[in-house]
Amino acid sequence: MPDRGSFQINEDLIYLNHAAVAPWPRVTRDAVHAFAEQNASRGAADYPVWTEVERRVRQRLARLINAPSPDDIALLKSTSEGLSIIAHGLPWSQGDNVVTFAQEFPSNRIIWESLARLGVETRLIDLAGGESALLAACDRRTRLVSTSSVQYTSGFRIDLERIGDFCRPRGILLCVDAIQSLGALRFDVAACQADFVVADGHKWMLGPEGVALFYARPVVREHLRLNQFGWHMVENLGEFDATEWSPASSARRFECGSPNMLGIHALDASLGLIEAEGMEGIERAVLDNTSHLMDLVRGCARLHLQSDPARPRRSGIVTFRIAGTTPQSAWRELMNRGVICAPRGGGVRFSPHYHTPTAELGRAVEIASTLR
Ligand SMILES: Cc1ncc(COP(=O)(O)O)c(C=O)c1O
Repeated sequence: MPDRGSFQINEDLIYLNHAAVAPWPRVTRDAVHAFAEQNASRGAADYPVWTEVERRVRQRLARLINAPSPDDIALLKSTSEGLSIIAHGLPWSQGDNVVTFAQEFPSNRIIWESLARLGVETRLIDLAGGESALLAACDRRTRLVSTSSVQYTSGFRIDLERIGDFCRPRGILLCVDAIQSLGALRFDVAACQADFVVADGHKWMLGPEGVALFYARPVVREHLRLNQFGWHMVENLGEFDATEWSPASSARRFECGSPNMLGIHALDASLGLIEAEGMEGIERAVLDNTSHLMDLVRGCARLHLQSDPARPRRSGIVTFRIAGTTPQSAWRELMNRGVICAPRGGGVRFSPHYHTPTAELGRAVEIASTLR
């Protein structure tokens, strides 16, 4: 049973927007308070302790995706930054192509499209065709397939293992934007054979904006050309008098300057809570909430479920249309009534987390069903 006491969300709000930005757990709020106090009273006198927290976050993130080592994890500022490092680090040739879904979040399209000036084509495949259409669009010039683990509009969960099984033997790189699943659903980078995994911490991981996980498979990492440089990305960190340098062999090579220590302290606390709850239980609770929401929506004649109800396709996101409303008007009215959600994909998107009380889902759907 999830511990709802870990959160302090206002009782007049029904918070169904974890697919956008999550409310912090109490432990995260406390960690930020404590860090602020420490900064104000002692400055960076305890920097070695902060470095320990940074090390722990890398370990937690490595465990979260089942990465072989914390050395494979870089801490960046956003998913978009991670995707850009991949796109502008790979050695492309004119005529290469990238294959992705047309309905992806803009960062997972714009960044690949920015390679057009190098003669790289971005193939946008209709999500309606699923993985089959995505894979059918690959040819001998396909260098990379990029997909979200869970689509941000409808919550459609992608069969990553199927894509990985296709890509790896053909030498096609697989890049996964996992922001809509990490912290909600279990993830195994070895099982899905992803070469890259990127995800900011402010959604299902319950952290702040501005600290993102970046994983690159070690053999591929070495082939990414670096475009950002500084004191923090060198092998011999802290040797300020050295005139010779080389990039760190670990994923720290992608972190050019001072880390976001405040964000790291916050994310450490959030991930600590997630580990204490356990990903298996969190995933079960998230999917139970989704099942319940889907039943409620399907039980109401004025609501039309847009998310795919097939079990392997479910995630933490449920999207539906409300008859007689536009997504924008319905969303504004829901927000006015304290139901925090988002207009997405031609409908209203509800994204409760594991700790969202079941009764609140019923109340939110009841409010939605009365909108005109
Ligand atoms: C699938 C997906 N990718 C990326 C992002 C945001 O990325 P960033 O961390 O660059 O802000 C979002 C935010 O809504 C998203 O849904």
